[in-house]
Amino acid sequence: MANHSEYWSTYDWSQQGEEWNASPEWKQALIDDVLLRWIPADVATLEIGPGAGRWADVLASRTSSLTLVDVSERPLELCRERFGDNARVSYLLTQGSELPGIPDGSVDAVWSFDVFVHLAPLDQANYLREISRVLAPGGVAVIHHADGRNRGRLSSRGGWRSPMSRGLFAALATESGLHVERQFDSWGPDGRYDLSDFGDVITACRMPQEQL
Ligand SMILES: C[S@@+](CC[C@H](N)C(=O)[O-])C[C@H]1O[C@@H](n2cnc3c(N)ncnc32)[C@H](O)[C@@H]1O
Repeated sequence: MANHSEYWSTYDWSQQGEEWNASPEWKQALIDDVLLRWIPADVATLEIGPGAGRWADVLASRTSSLTLVDVSERPLELCRERFGDNARVSYLLTQGSELPGIPDGSVDAVWSFDVFVHLAPLDQANYLREISRVLAPGGVAVIHHADGRNRGRLSSRGGWRSPMSRGLFAALATESGLHVERQFDSWGPDGRYDLSDFGDVITACRMPQEQL
């Protein structure tokens, strides 16, 4: 996709991104088994690409602070309308692969869903370096990204789905100084909910504790 900022500014957000849920049960299981399991309560949290706040709605109710970072003004406006009365939520416009102004080591958890699947690998690599920079020791990042099985539909900046694989993403995370704890593509009872329609994966990685 040539210009993410423009595309997402003119997107019809009237369904608030709920149109991307496979089902209400799929979404609730993702919240219960993935988001709530990996993202601790009462910590400084950052979400990359919040859209209209489909996940930020959950994060905002439980974090000590939530920074919403988007490449496009419109999603940030929608989130301001939705969470404006919550003083713990702040909003940040990025050029597309940076976390400008976020101090080093100041974030405990990073969440991003349905965003990296559309990003060029170089932007993903840069974000991983930025995530590594801003995460505090022991902090966690949970990122949904492409896994290369749908190669026929893959493309980079000029297209829709990113040419990324779980192995390359893990290598880029490790190179950035993060420890990859888990990569998974299903959740819920018996792993009944998944990302198999697109061949995506979720990678959970952690900033190692400082060596004494
Ligand atoms: C498919 S929507 C997903 C929104 C939300 N994460 C959800 O799951 O409902 C993609 C979102 O990522 C944002 N986005 C796209 N490219 C981005 C980038 N390089 N950095 C930050 N946000 C980006 C878009 O503006 C949009 O808000």
